[in-house]
Amino acid sequence: MRFHWRVFLACAWLLLLLALIDRLLRPRCARETEVKTPEHTRSFNQSSAADWGVVVKRRSEMISTVCKDRGDSHVSTSELVLDRILVSDQHGILFCETPEASDAYWKKLLIAVGGSFSSAEDVPEHLVHDHQRNGLPRLSSLAPEEITHRLKTYFKFIVVRDPFERLITTFEDKFLFNKPSEPWYKHTISPAIIHKYRTDFPFLADAGLVFDEFVRYLGDAEGRSLLDWQFGEHIIHWATYVELCAPCDISYDVIGHHETLERDAAHILRKAAIEHLVSYPAIPPGVSCYNKTKVERYFSGISKRDIRRLYERYQGDFHLFGYPTPDFLLN
Ligand SMILES: *[C@@H]1O[C@H](CO)[C@@H](O)[C@H](O)[C@H]1NC(C)=O
Ligand SMILES: *[C@@H]1O[C@H](CO)[C@@H](O)[C@H](O)[C@H]1NC(C)=O
Repeated sequence: MRFHWRVFLACAWLLLLLALIDRLLRPRCARETEVKTPEHTRSFNQSSAADWGVVVKRRSEMISTVCKDRGDSHVSTSELVLDRILVSDQHGILFCETPEASDAYWKKLLIAVGGSFSSAEDVPEHLVHDHQRNGLPRLSSLAPEEITHRLKTYFKFIVVRDPFERLITTFEDKFLFNKPSEPWYKHTISPAIIHKYRTDFPFLADAGLVFDEFVRYLGDAEGRSLLDWQFGEHIIHWATYVELCAPCDISYDVIGHHETLERDAAHILRKAAIEHLVSYPAIPPGVSCYNKTKVERYFSGISKRDIRRLYERYQGDFHLFGYPTPDFLLN
């Protein structure tokens, strides 16, 4: 009897300990990009909004430093960038859309706060893309002096994620599980990339695009320009954040990270002074975390040469936003 009790108690302790460890580990991603500097680890306090502000401030400082090092001379903001930035005049907010990092939800949220909707979920799907009616015009639709004024005075934010994981999500969304409402990825873009980059023998043009070919296309600095021109604005789904949002030219007030979306979303809403109007829904633990296993699986079997070329194109995004170089893929 006494022996049974001891076993029982030991098991109970073990369970309690496991539950505790699980609780400690669960809400945090395996790799949080912020926790790189030692000062951070010291001041890191998940529950405190003020401390999250420190994390976010670090990101902005990093961008200034990297931009200075790159020595980018200021060029006038491109039409592609002005097309990406959405304007909420009512609340003085500019949001640069970055596909594959929750941008559709942010759009709905901003439409909701500007219009007569009580939450993002109430915004009808057709309105999300109708920038003439949804109260969220593109910056490119305004006159030059109106653009300058807004860039200078409005609250500006952007949400980014690990560049390679982003490309995997793009590949899955647009090519692997292609939606019927977006037939061009399957019927125009895939065949064009396959035609140029498929090397398999026998050449099976009707088998869908594979990640290997997508990577070769993305990293082909010279070869892809004609294709990019042909694909038009669809390239926004894989263009770099530097190309889409010009983070060296436009000083964003907050850079959100998809990997820490829950805390970043709360911070953005607070800084944009709309936290009393809307809230960001709870994100199930682990959902927005970086998944190294997945990245490894997707890149296994792809030649180092192609991965290095891909990295060359996206390294600006890695450096500017503080994402660690994926050495496990490059070497
Ligand atoms: C985190 O910050 C909050 C509010 O500033 C404070 O009450 C709490 O003690 C801090 N926690 C740690 C672990 O430092
Ligand atoms: C990471 O990706 C792998 C492979 O796609 C998947 O099986 C696993 O559940 C993912 N892990 C998390 C925490 O989502």
